[in-house]
Amino acid sequence: MNITVTVNGETYERDVDPRRLLIHFIRDDLDLTGSHVGCDTGNCGACTILYNGDAVKSCMLLAVQADGAKIETVESLSANGELDGLQQAFSDHHALQCGYCTPGMLMSAKHLLDHNASPTEGEIRKGIQGNICRCTGYVNIVEAIKAASK
Ligand code: FES
Ligand code: FES
Repeated sequence: MNITVTVNGETYERDVDPRRLLIHFIRDDLDLTGSHVGCDTGNCGACTILYNGDAVKSCMLLAVQADGAKIETVESLSANGELDGLQQAFSDHHALQCGYCTPGMLMSAKHLLDHNASPTEGEIRKGIQGNICRCTGYVNIVEAIKAASK
């Protein structure tokens, strides 16, 4: 099937297999490998992207469902090689160790801050509840998001 998708402000037209998952389309067809695949079953959140402004797990959508959609991936955050405020806060607060969860965590955090500029700690924890981190224990991630919100 032929689909047209806008990803990080750029429009792509591609032929895709109707069974192709959106995460595989993003990573393998568009070569945007920032979004990770952790489970392929909607549990880990490593593949989280913004889909028409909503944070979604892109392993739970088919590429054909993105026809006409506006998508933002973790690559949209930095410009000219500079970290954006949220990425810098993750770095400053040691909010990552292996980094596998980080792209999805950042996009869930971005979604939260786009809708709530000054979230409480409880709101931050709820905002990232769909994202699993095996390394950090979450405390520094919550601190980073809190700092980025200021
Ligand atoms: S790879 Fe999509 S939720 Fe884990
Ligand atoms: S930093 Fe390793 S899974 Fe989160």
